[in-house]
Amino acid sequence: MKVFYFTGTGNSLFLAERICEAAGGGDLVSIAAFLRECGETGQKDGESGDGKAIGWRKDVLIEDEAVGIVFPVYWVSVPAPVVKFLRQIRIESPYIFAVPTFGGFGLPVHDHLRELAREQKFHFSLIAGCKMPDNFVPWYDLGKQNRRFPQGKIAARADRAAELVAARHVGGTGATILRPLLPLAKRYSTKNASDFDTRYFRVEAACTGCGLCAMACPAGNIRMEGGSASDSRSRPAFCGMCWCCLACTNVCPQNAIRCEGEKSKARYVNPFVGAQGLLAQKAPHGVAAFETVEAHRTTPTTESLPCA
Ligand SMILES: Cc1cc2nc3c(=O)[nH]c(=O)nc-3n(C[C@H](O)[C@H](O)[C@H](O)COP(=O)(O)O)c2cc1C
Ligand code: SF4
Ligand code: SF4
Repeated sequence: MKVFYFTGTGNSLFLAERICEAAGGGDLVSIAAFLRECGETGQKDGESGDGKAIGWRKDVLIEDEAVGIVFPVYWVSVPAPVVKFLRQIRIESPYIFAVPTFGGFGLPVHDHLRELAREQKFHFSLIAGCKMPDNFVPWYDLGKQNRRFPQGKIAARADRAAELVAARHVGGTGATILRPLLPLAKRYSTKNASDFDTRYFRVEAACTGCGLCAMACPAGNIRMEGGSASDSRSRPAFCGMCWCCLACTNVCPQNAIRCEGEKSKARYVNPFVGAQGLLAQKAPHGVAAFETVEAHRTTPTTESLPCA
């Protein structure tokens, strides 16, 4: 089994891990690392936030007896990096599943997933949403979310979704009654994402320049800049191609990245993952070694080799 995940604050990573455990093993692959290694980041002009030039690779072939994606719902639809990922791959598997994690309400994400699968010529066997603590600081008081979701509740929800996958359950793939809202949701989502980092974030003087926010940012959207004779600390600077995951503001140990309109100063990172656990999302996964569909078709099989 291969499980691809994208996460901001760890809920989706935790769930992806539980899915692999319940299935008795599986390859866990970060979508952020995949995009980066196959040539895409959140950045403009072929450059990642840390200045590394990037290329582009399409039609990557994902084959296994089961293939899944786990990610957070953003504005009741699929986040931009997950859309990019799905448009870059071909999946060949008898069991393809999606487990979107959400905090309040995300039904149209089912319709978005169906639409993306149709584009890429595959069908999901299972789409099963999993309710987790909501990390959207501008709308929710994360202190209340933390209290409403003790660790046992988070684990129980993840295990329920993981059991569905382990049992190869089929379902949740039909059109929802909110399907007509999908075009509106996608427009809203694109509009909100367009200048998210500059509109929402403000770095306060409490910043020590530790760089954790930049290390956690899956889009490579944060550069550490500055440092002067009077103050040697560098500061995070946002590069304008944010994936809106809120990792930066939630991992900051100084609580120095404030969010416009935030309901409280409380922050959230999935307790089973922790701030350091989020960094795994950016570690190299060796995914650039995945075959493309074209390469796969031209790879000689043993039948075509001359007999010894
Ligand atoms: C930009 C953004 C938009 C969100 N939109 C929704 C939404 O429309 N519906 C919802 O139920 N939760 C929404 N959420 C909450 C997340 O989907 C939820 O907390 C998720 O479990 C976070 O997963 P992660 O920890 O893997 O990042 C949103 C979160 C962010 C950051
Ligand atoms: S994580 Fe916080 S303290 Fe560290 S560099 Fe980023 S904003 Fe500054
Ligand atoms: S800048 Fe912050 S919110 Fe935007 S992608 Fe990076 S970590 Fe996520």
